Amino acid sequence: DWTMATYKEQAIEAIRAQVGDAKVICGLSGGVDSSVAAVLIHEAIGDQLTCVFVDTGLMREGEADEVVTLFRDHYNIPLIHADEADRFIDALEGVSDPEVKRKTIGRLFIEVFEARAAEVGDAKFLAQGTLYPDVIESVSFTGGPSVTIKSHHNVGGLPERMHLKLVEPLRELFKDEVRALGRELGLPETFVGRHPFPGPGLAIRCPGEITREKLAILRKADAVYLDQIRRHGLYDEIWQAFAVLLPVRTVGVMGDGRTYDYVCALRAVTSVDGMTADYYPFSHAFLSETATRIVGEVKGVNRITYDITSKPPGTIEWE
Ligand code: XMP
Repeated sequence: DWTMATYKEQAIEAIRAQVGDAKVICGLSGGVDSSVAAVLIHEAIGDQLTCVFVDTGLMREGEADEVVTLFRDHYNIPLIHADEADRFIDALEGVSDPEVKRKTIGRLFIEVFEARAAEVGDAKFLAQGTLYPDVIESVSFTGGPSVTIKSHHNVGGLPERMHLKLVEPLRELFKDEVRALGRELGLPETFVGRHPFPGPGLAIRCPGEITREKLAILRKADAVYLDQIRRHGLYDEIWQAFAVLLPVRTVGVMGDGRTYDYVCALRAVTSVDGMTADYYPFSHAFLSETATRIVGEVKGVNRITYDITSKPPGTIEWE
């Protein structure tokens, strides 16, 4: 792709001009955006870059291992694996408001990055994989007055409180362009084609107060759901799919016993850029097979619903 090849060269020049010989740390989330940002910056400045993967304890099953393996072993990019699960989950105790959750997580990310930046020996810049839609949606919503829909933790509220300057080489790009850039940079297709995953992670897929128990249940249900989607060859047709664990228990029956367990909602949408989205029209056969598997395989869930809301009026995430 000629256009992306040119864009890549210009972006590399811009990064070099911005950071000079300073050290940069880059937050990796496991998502496409931060991975592409990291590899691009690595091409620009080599080992002036150190990546920090903050394991918030809010990741999907297997996520942490995949990220660490790709960057440390495949790319040989210096990587700090910060296991901060307790810090995040303890701070979220008793928090049920979505914006308070998002802001709490954003604040902890800054704290962790600043602490790790000091370890790296005087990093001056923090790199992030912020995209154009993140920038717009944190500020306003298409067609409306200036209302904050959601504070994306990688955009809102960072600068004044932070000593690090931001490097955001993807700030003008949409998701499909980031994927094209990722391919241009030689990232494996399994990474480039990944569904988006939000910085606040599973915390915003557990409406209400999160607990370690709920997160564990959600992680399992989500893994079964994604396994179903892959088995049926649907992963690449879908923009994003995930499970949400509702803060509601309902009565069920299993064998000859009563159950009283959580409701799990399934979400899947198609989209071009995440700004608008349509719910994915799964077949009834797929939905019932998936419901049977999740209730059968995941202790703590006894009822499944499928979210048929598009965006707008819904958002993709539930919080
Ligand atoms: P919504 O829920 O606003 O999501 O329709 C649009 C897209 O953005 C992702 N998302 C986030 N990504 N940090 C991120 O990096 C965030 O705080 C965040 N919140 C939502 C969401 O997964 C979807 O792809």
